[in-house]
Amino acid sequence: MSLFITFEGGEGGGKSVQAKALYRRLSQLAIPALLTHEPGGTPFGKKLGRWLKWVKETDISPLTELMLFNASRAQLVAEIIQPNLKGGKVVISDRYADSTTAYQGYGRGLDLEMVKATNNAATQGLKPALTVLLDIPVEKGLARIKGREKDRFEQEALAFHQRVREGYLKLAGDEPERWLIVDASQSKEKISQIIWQRVSQLLSRG
Ligand SMILES: Nc1ncnc2c1ncn2[C@@H]1O[C@H](COP(=O)(O)OP(=O)(O)O)[C@@H](O)[C@H]1O
Ligand SMILES: [Mg+2]
Repeated sequence: MSLFITFEGGEGGGKSVQAKALYRRLSQLAIPALLTHEPGGTPFGKKLGRWLKWVKETDISPLTELMLFNASRAQLVAEIIQPNLKGGKVVISDRYADSTTAYQGYGRGLDLEMVKATNNAATQGLKPALTVLLDIPVEKGLARIKGREKDRFEQEALAFHQRVREGYLKLAGDEPERWLIVDASQSKEKISQIIWQRVSQLLSRG
């Protein structure tokens, strides 16, 4: 059956680890699934994502960021997500539209209604059935990725990451039936188990 699941949260919460773990579990059970990520997931999105994350000594305004993330997203929805959902797959995305509301809306301070309207245009209104929020104190998440080369977002001040975290919690609180908030300071195994409990429920409901 088709099901759209997204992973959200700040840096180092374990989105990539858990999205992959879920994909592996579905594959082992022979449930057709597809794993993708933002920004990227298509050849064009990958190019945009590289600019958005890694461009140096070049200003990108918050509004430009909003448009470019949504350009990548529009392509991903049209080229990958919609066709695979139509094909009956479980589609898992490591980040999606809520990242833009959290980062460009709450983090950068763009008008939230404008951000939501722009996201809605890019996604053609497609919303996940389940969004997993891997919530972790900012310092703890950043400490987990200490060794990595930092992209434009990971280099932001603590206050920025704090606004992003609070933004996510606000979004989850506004739509509790769509979001599963997980305390991401637990072990990887424990978190996988909590996520699987919810996903298997959704799958058995058909
Ligand atoms: N529950 C966890 N406990 C401890 N370390 C974790 C946990 N989940 C992820 N990590 C580690 O933290 C780092 C960031 O994980 P990652 O999945 O890349 O986070 P994100 O994609 O949310 O930025 C990786 O080194 C990963 O192995
Ligand atoms: Mg990641």
